[in-house]
Amino acid sequence: MKNFETIFGLPAQVSAQAPGRVNLMGEHTDYNQGFVLPTILPLKTIVQIGVDNSVGGKIDIFSANYQQRIERSLHKGGSNHWSEYIVACLQQLQQYQIIIPSLKILVESNVPIGAGVASSAALEIAFLKAVRKLLQLNLTDLEIASLAQKAESEGVGMPCGIMDQMVTSLGRENQALFLDTKDLSFEYVKLPTNYDFAVIHSGKTHVLAKSAYKQRRQECEKAAALMNVSSLRDVCLPELNFLDKLPHTLRQRVVHVVTENQRVLDSVAAIEENRLADLGELMNASHLSQKNQFEVTIKETDLLCKAAIERGAIGARQTGGGFGGAIVALVPRHAVQSWWNFVCRDCPQASFICTSQKPQKALLRRVR
Ligand code: GLA
Repeated sequence: MKNFETIFGLPAQVSAQAPGRVNLMGEHTDYNQGFVLPTILPLKTIVQIGVDNSVGGKIDIFSANYQQRIERSLHKGGSNHWSEYIVACLQQLQQYQIIIPSLKILVESNVPIGAGVASSAALEIAFLKAVRKLLQLNLTDLEIASLAQKAESEGVGMPCGIMDQMVTSLGRENQALFLDTKDLSFEYVKLPTNYDFAVIHSGKTHVLAKSAYKQRRQECEKAAALMNVSSLRDVCLPELNFLDKLPHTLRQRVVHVVTENQRVLDSVAAIEENRLADLGELMNASHLSQKNQFEVTIKETDLLCKAAIERGAIGARQTGGGFGGAIVALVPRHAVQSWWNFVCRDCPQASFICTSQKPQKALLRRVR
C-alpha cells in the first residue's frame, strides 16, 4: 500500500476509522422508528486527510481499494461514484456554515461492499470523524451518525434508516447496540462468550440504492398512513388481527415490521438471560418473516440459512438491507471451523466474512 505522502506529496494530518457491522435482529425496522440490535465487526475503513493550502475548494480522493484517484468539487453531487459519500458528507457540513479547505483524502477498507455489512456507513463515519479531528469540530458521535445518515439519504439518494451510522459510530466490541430509532436512545448488550455470530456472504452482492429498498419504505409509509399512525412503530401486536382493510401486500409489510420489533425486544431478553436456543429460534423466525412477509431475501440467502442450520447453527437469518448480501448464523464457538467446512461445501458460492468477535486466523484463510 502506497503511503499518503507518496500519493499526494504532502503528509496526512489526521486519520480516523470506523467498523463494518452485522445486524443481529431488527431488519427494516429503523425507518419505521422501531428497534434494532446490530454489533460491530472486526473489519474497518480508515480515512486519512491532509490539507492542501495551495489550491482552493478542491477535494482530491484516492481509494486504495479501487486504486483510483478522483478530483471532486463540492458544488456537484448525485453521481453514482464511490466518492459521492464523501462529497455528500462535506455538503452536510457546509449546511452548518463549516468552511471546507482543499482536502487530500486517502481511503482504505476491508469492509466488503454490497454484502449487507454497512460499508457505506463505515466510509461516512470514518470520514466525518477524520474531518471532526482536522477542523476540531464540536460534534458528538451521535451527531456524526445523524449527519452521515442525512448525507446518505439526501446526498447519495439512498433513503436509509439510521441503524448503520449509529452502530458504526457508537458501537463497541463484543457488545450489541440495542437502539430505539424513535428517540435514538440506546444501551449496550454484552454478547455471549461461548457462541459466535458468523457472517457469511451469499456470493450475491446488492446495490441497495437500485433495489426495491425504497419501495419497501414507501409501502410501510403508505400502510402507516392508511392505519392513521405516524409510523409502524405505533402498531402493536394485537392490532395485527385487525388489518383486513389493508391491501394484502401492505398487510404483509406491517406484519413483518411489528413482529420484527417484538423479536428485537425478545432477543435482548434472550441474550441477557443466556437463553441462546431462544435467540436462535428468533433469528430463524426473522429470516422467514423477511422471506415471506417483507420479501427481501433471495434464493442464495434462503439456502445458506438452511445449510447453516442443518450443519449445526442454532439460528440463522439474512442480515442488512437484503436483495443479496450476507447471513448471520449463531454457532457454538468451538465448532465454527468445522461448521464452516460443511457449509462451504453445501454452498460453494458462499464465503466467510468474519465473526462478530476478533478474526480467527484459521477461518480467515478461507475468505475469498
Ligand atoms: C440498510 C439500511 C439500514 C436498514 C437496513 C435494513 O442497511 O442502511 O438503515 O434499513 O438496510 O434493516
